[in-house]
Amino acid sequence: MKLNKKDVQEALKHISVPGEGENMIDSGAVTNIVVFADEVIVDITIKNPSLQAKKRTEVDIMKIIHDKVYEKAKVSVNVKVNAPANPITEIKGKAIPGIKNIVAVASGKGGVGKSTVTSNLAATLAKMGFSVGILDADVYGPSIPIMYDVAEARPLAVNIEGKSKMKPIENYGVKILSIGFFTQPNQAVIWRGPMAAKALNQMIFDAAWGELDFLLIDLPPGTGDIHLSIMQSLPITGAVVVSTPQNVALADAKKGVAMFQQENINVPVLGIVENMAYFTPEELPNNKYYIFGKEGAKNLAEDLKVPFLGEIPLVQGIREAGDVGRPAALQVATPIEEAFEDLTKNIVQEVVNRNDNLPPTEAIKITTMAGCSAVKK
Ligand SMILES: Nc1ncnc2c1ncn2[C@@H]1O[C@H](COP(=O)(O)OP(=O)(O)OP(=O)(O)O)[C@@H](O)[C@H]1O
Ligand SMILES: [Mg+2]
Repeated sequence: MKLNKKDVQEALKHISVPGEGENMIDSGAVTNIVVFADEVIVDITIKNPSLQAKKRTEVDIMKIIHDKVYEKAKVSVNVKVNAPANPITEIKGKAIPGIKNIVAVASGKGGVGKSTVTSNLAATLAKMGFSVGILDADVYGPSIPIMYDVAEARPLAVNIEGKSKMKPIENYGVKILSIGFFTQPNQAVIWRGPMAAKALNQMIFDAAWGELDFLLIDLPPGTGDIHLSIMQSLPITGAVVVSTPQNVALADAKKGVAMFQQENINVPVLGIVENMAYFTPEELPNNKYYIFGKEGAKNLAEDLKVPFLGEIPLVQGIREAGDVGRPAALQVATPIEEAFEDLTKNIVQEVVNRNDNLPPTEAIKITTMAGCSAVKK
């Protein structure tokens, strides 16, 4: 008998999971070991969602078993990525049962790519195996229905425990609710703040979201009433701020970050994304043209001491995919897919860090106009 469980366990004590200090037995990363003749099956759970971390862990495990236990062992490794949980049950505000993390995607300036980033982030998370929803909170210009090719869809009512709930529309493995589902395509929605807030509250609390690892909220541009009402209603895990590298966008992104960090709001900023970072023509794939300036958002992240989450190039395919209604990140083995995968991994990592280090966000309690105007400055 060349193989036994105890030797395998001892051998695994020599290696650790990337990003976690302790060896993988003491850290609890190894959840099960099965030995059967010359086969070993190792189940592990890791927090780091990157493919690189996964691959490295698999290779390390195989190598150590071959080196220290039996060089001809057939080793299989099952890696499970543990969705970072924000323990919302502890939150005093109105939590949504079943939703682990709520990530708001914001910018200061309009048109910098919030909806594009939200839709591709959601598609990438779903591809990685997370359960994901998007709440399109842009009551003035909802774009998610078009970007997900569900503009004609109308959510149905379902009965859950005696209550009628809205069933989100699903495409590409992502659940979606948007004000766009309740308006005519050519109708301009001129809603006053309280009406918009009411509609959003319904999409949040009267909806059958089910179990979600991530609910992404695509916010309208700016730092206005909708933002406040969302932050009052929901315990936001963290905010992602999108900016182009150009000065006017950066100035507004700074205001966006300041809004979340304001003392009475206190939503952790997961970091800044640089969208339209550079342009690369298809026929000259090695050329980069910094149309909106170079590394502006990266520098802003450094100045504000918030994480820089990644850069997305300006690519015709991203715009086209948005218009056609199939997120560009779903185009396999392309630089676009890769850029969104890097961004998504960084965001998940920041959510993990945030949940490890900070208490859950409470829904904020701004009721006075003074509070509102302070944010708008
Ligand atoms: N990286 C990119 N490459 C090419 N086109 C892009 C990119 N990012 C966004 N776009 C395009 O730019 C336009 C604006 O993007 P998007 O609607 O995502 O911005 P937004 O910040 O959500 O705007 P709004 O403030 O109106 O909500 C869209 O036509 C979109 O397809
Ligand atoms: Mg938008």
